[in-house]
Amino acid sequence: MTRGAPGSVEDLIARAAARLPPSVAAYLAAGSGAQVTLAEATPAWEALRFAPRVLRPVTQVHLRDSDGLLPFGIAPVTLQRAVHPDGELATARGAAEAGVPLVVSSNTGTPFAAIAETGVAWSLQTYLPPDRTAIEPLLARAVAAGARAVVLTADTPVVARKYDPVAAGVWDEIDPGWVGAELDPDPTAAPAGVPGAEGTDRFRAKATDLGPHDIGWLAGATGLPVVVKGVLRADDAQRCFDAGAAAVWVSNHGGRQFDGAIPTARALPEVAAAGGPVHVDGGLRSARHLCAAWALGAERVFLARPVLAALALGGAAGVRDLFLGLEAEVEEACRLLGAARTADLVGTVVDEHHRCGSPRFDR
Ligand SMILES: Cc1cc2nc3c(=O)[nH]c(=O)nc-3n(C[C@H](O)[C@H](O)[C@H](O)COP(=O)(O)O)c2cc1C
Repeated sequence: MTRGAPGSVEDLIARAAARLPPSVAAYLAAGSGAQVTLAEATPAWEALRFAPRVLRPVTQVHLRDSDGLLPFGIAPVTLQRAVHPDGELATARGAAEAGVPLVVSSNTGTPFAAIAETGVAWSLQTYLPPDRTAIEPLLARAVAAGARAVVLTADTPVVARKYDPVAAGVWDEIDPGWVGAELDPDPTAAPAGVPGAEGTDRFRAKATDLGPHDIGWLAGATGLPVVVKGVLRADDAQRCFDAGAAAVWVSNHGGRQFDGAIPTARALPEVAAAGGPVHVDGGLRSARHLCAAWALGAERVFLARPVLAALALGGAAGVRDLFLGLEAEVEEACRLLGAARTADLVGTVVDEHHRCGSPRFDR
């Protein structure tokens, strides 16, 4: 499908932006700094090319795992109740209907227990505060509500500055009850005083002393597998796995943290070569982009802004239909690439020398 054509994910995002209040639309779209990383995200996926395999049986394409879940996921995003009145609840319902796992932001506007009642397969995303004990009640509520894993966002020692004045206005316009449903008062937190900082993040201090030991601490505190989000380098991936991480998540926070960070499409092959399970997000907007991510070694591929657009335009049904539509398009792409499952895509993306993947991926 032509990029931006009617029915494409980019068309969905454009239509949602036109419908949402200007400050909400600007907040969702915004990147940090000069928005260089934001601008490069989708073109980096778009530039990749494949060498399809032939003479492979593709009568059946197996995308779903033994739990019936698709190899996609919904990345954590705050402010969903400003996007749709049912907010995270609608996202969760749509995800449950489509069979897509959901990562819930610790700055959710909907309590964990209500999200869990939808039956969605969900995980918690969290930051860590300077005093780790301040987050323990929130972690306990997530565990009690059935979170399957905990995702530690590691790329946010501070919330990077964003300069869009329209986006900055969103925090004065929304109902404060639309965020922070599970955030406990943090007695150690001091207002960061950073212009453009993200919502209640202004009032929740982030740890600047995160280390690999925090992975073990989180695993011990929750009894859950720990995924580290925001990894862009193989050496950091290795440190995460050495410290017991169950997976690492290649992400530049949708271009909202360090401006000038490399596109995730470029970081992914190196991080995947570290050897453990890898998730990825950032600028993925089509079945072809998703297939490229699996081809470069990702296990699960996450979307954020496309889900918010689907939520804005269609609520739970919109979220469900986004993923069912992508599932059908991915099935077609897999057949055309000679892949009966996403693991068979490994090695189908060609590098700049027209070789098929890295030696590790050749089979
Ligand atoms: C409006 C918005 C809010 C976000 N909130 C969070 C958050 O609370 N925690 C987090 O780890 N990432 C957050 N992210 C980053 C996303 O999880 C994800 O890494 C990124 O947006 C993926 O790129 P995409 O939007 O191009 O799909 C947010 C992104 C957006 C656009």
